[in-house]
Amino acid sequence: MSTLATVARTGLPPSSHWRDDEDEGRQSRSSTLTEDAAHRPLLELRKINSFYGPVQAHFDLDLEVRQGQIVSLLGGNASGKSTTMKVVLGLLKPRSGELRFEGRSIAGLSTPQVVRQGIGSVPEARRLFPAMTVRENLLMGAYARSDRKAVAEDLARMLDLFPRVAERIDFQAGTLSGGEQQMVAMARALMGRPKLICMDEPTMGLSPLYVDKVLELIAQINRQGVSVFMVEQNASLALQIAHYGYVLQTGRIVLQGPGYELLADARIRDAYLGGSDAARTAS
Ligand SMILES: Nc1ncnc2c1ncn2[C@@H]1O[C@H](COP(=O)(O)OP(=O)(O)OP(=O)(O)O)[C@@H](O)[C@H]1O
Ligand SMILES: [Mg+2]
Repeated sequence: MSTLATVARTGLPPSSHWRDDEDEGRQSRSSTLTEDAAHRPLLELRKINSFYGPVQAHFDLDLEVRQGQIVSLLGGNASGKSTTMKVVLGLLKPRSGELRFEGRSIAGLSTPQVVRQGIGSVPEARRLFPAMTVRENLLMGAYARSDRKAVAEDLARMLDLFPRVAERIDFQAGTLSGGEQQMVAMARALMGRPKLICMDEPTMGLSPLYVDKVLELIAQINRQGVSVFMVEQNASLALQIAHYGYVLQTGRIVLQGPGYELLADARIRDAYLGGSDAARTAS
């Protein structure tokens, strides 16, 4: 195992990532912090092998998202990133391996059942209902909830968090720009009050302004207590907000570590960040 990986398994985020509100009083963050202390595993994939027919997409995939973390799954085209999301959301059943959420197996659950466990999803290309209004799209995110008053409060909260969405609330979703649709998709997922939100390429196709905005919002959502599992091709951006990252290559994890370490890692720089430019990004 590389030094990076070794450090990574015990490494907690740098002090700037720590939040006072997320320890739940369980443990002081002093020298006794251990692997399982403040950041308990929330989502765990263990030795997952998944297939499309005869074609194997994951080889003993092992990863986890701990409580309170933003975890980025990086990798090139066709490396298996979206397939990982499908496995988590119950859209593709792995042939073998374990899948746990909050310590309990979620293997074999349907997508609605997975959502009810507290896992929200912002799928690739956002998948809004284009002919429905933004408001209707947001309310679809709360379809599994019966607490109408709390849903109304959450809708108001979302409009606070996403003022741009508030401005577009009565527009048909299909008329919004890509960045606006991304925000609606994030707000819709949050309407289900997830503990973990899964996002596939949240910045894909967005203008630079919206890329920054969306990443900032992801960090903000995380600060409010939602853990985040995100697939990203743009490693340098994703690693700026990620506590931890995994690099996938043809269905295998080839590198992992805290976000700030991966950002500085020569292998990541060479593969994803374009050499010396990356060194500047990392410094
Ligand atoms: N529905 C499918 N049927 C058959 N093979 C598939 C299917 N979806 C994906 N694959 C294959 O599984 C592998 C992983 O694909 P996946 O979509 O997970 O990659 P990805 O990392 O998300 O890629 P991208 O960056 O292009 O989104 C690829 O070889 C792909 O061709
Ligand atoms: Mg994909």
